[in-house]
Amino acid sequence: MNHPQNIILSSTPGTLAVPDNPVIPFIEGDGIGKEITASVRLIIDKAIEKSYNGERKIEWKEVLAGEKAYNKLGTWLPEETIDAFRKYLVGIKGPLTTPVGEGIRSLNVALRQELDLYVCLRPVRWFKGVATPLLHPEKVHVTIFRENTEDIYAGIEWNAGTPEVEKVLKFLKEEMGVAKIRFPETTSIGVKPVSVEGTERLVRSAIDYAINNRLPSVTLVHKGNIMKFTEGGFKKWGYALAEREFSDQVFTENIFNKIKAERGLEAAVAAYNEAMEGGKVFIKDVIADAFLQNTLLKPEEYSVIATLNLNGDYISDQLAAMVGGIGIAPGANINYVTGHAIFEATHGTAPDIAGKNKANPCSMLLSGVMMLEYIGWSEAGSLVTKSLENLFEKGYATPDLARFMEKGKALSTSEFASEVINSL
Ligand code: NAI
Repeated sequence: MNHPQNIILSSTPGTLAVPDNPVIPFIEGDGIGKEITASVRLIIDKAIEKSYNGERKIEWKEVLAGEKAYNKLGTWLPEETIDAFRKYLVGIKGPLTTPVGEGIRSLNVALRQELDLYVCLRPVRWFKGVATPLLHPEKVHVTIFRENTEDIYAGIEWNAGTPEVEKVLKFLKEEMGVAKIRFPETTSIGVKPVSVEGTERLVRSAIDYAINNRLPSVTLVHKGNIMKFTEGGFKKWGYALAEREFSDQVFTENIFNKIKAERGLEAAVAAYNEAMEGGKVFIKDVIADAFLQNTLLKPEEYSVIATLNLNGDYISDQLAAMVGGIGIAPGANINYVTGHAIFEATHGTAPDIAGKNKANPCSMLLSGVMMLEYIGWSEAGSLVTKSLENLFEKGYATPDLARFMEKGKALSTSEFASEVINSL
């Protein structure tokens, strides 16, 4: 096949062909975006240079979005920006101001929808030295796969008192026999779509990830005990997919329970032990509220999490807070079938500190590390991670983190970036 120079290609679903000089589009971002993006690019370039003796290098291509785009072009999200992410597959972005006003979508949501980025990926780990409310934060090592396109977040809602909601309520009452709406006169209605396809592609990505990274388990987190067809469907379809597509590589709680019912607990435990010794991934499930308790009480039981959109939103922030990392948590939105992926800072534009050279670049930097891992340049990613481990342990950090650290030494954004580079 003719390989267009410098473009990352998705050869078969799940595999990327990455040239040595890939073009990677980036959105600088609003507010603190300018400061952190500049630092992140510098650090990543240096880490790549060191790791591959100058044989590999990213060709950064700036694309516009947010205020910068609006000021230059009069539009918040230019078509060329979406086209660039579509063409070059992999990109990174700083935080964007959410424009206020009727009819303007959140730019982040727009990008996710345009490229059908169905996984919101959030790895959570603790860095020694970072202040945390947990006694044993080192036990938290979790990667969250949050479904990104469905659920109650799909944006299908009607406001109380409008003719639209009246129509929906009438349909529910007269045609569907729904008699359970407590205050029909003053009710808003939202719709929660959860599909077999949407569930399967998310769970498939999570299991693939666990297998490729030799991780012990994938946990399906849901509220299927209450919402039987939507969240219950997620659990049922998730298990079915695991047993159908990964029968040689996984052992499920579902199968454990079947063996237990048919041949007793001992036989089930023996089958489980054999599967784990054979390096299989254990697929289990847990109700979302129990999961949130368990993450505090026994976080070591969880490795990869696959969950629906709303649960995933809550879970991502709770887990990040548990390791003191809410301000440095990285994230990515990915379509593992087409290969499209946008790596991003998970915080906002922090207008209160913008331009003050105080912003913490680590959320975006660690997203950059995820990006390097995604394109198979893990050596460079590890170099950055090690450098951060080293600095945090010494108490070197930007003020937002340093003020809570035992030996905290507050550095500006640019000083911190230089320290990262020096210790690469
Ligand atoms: P925010 O995350 O920008 O700020 C919340 C607090 O955290 C502020 O005190 C801020 O100074 C601090 N903070 C955030 N990032 C930091 C960093 N890297 N280093 C040090 N301190 C940091 O959330 P806020 O104020 O609710 O939103 C501001 C704007 O950002 C809004 O327009 C919002 O819509 C947008 N936003 C964009 C996101 C994105 O592009 N992914 C995500 C969240 C908000």
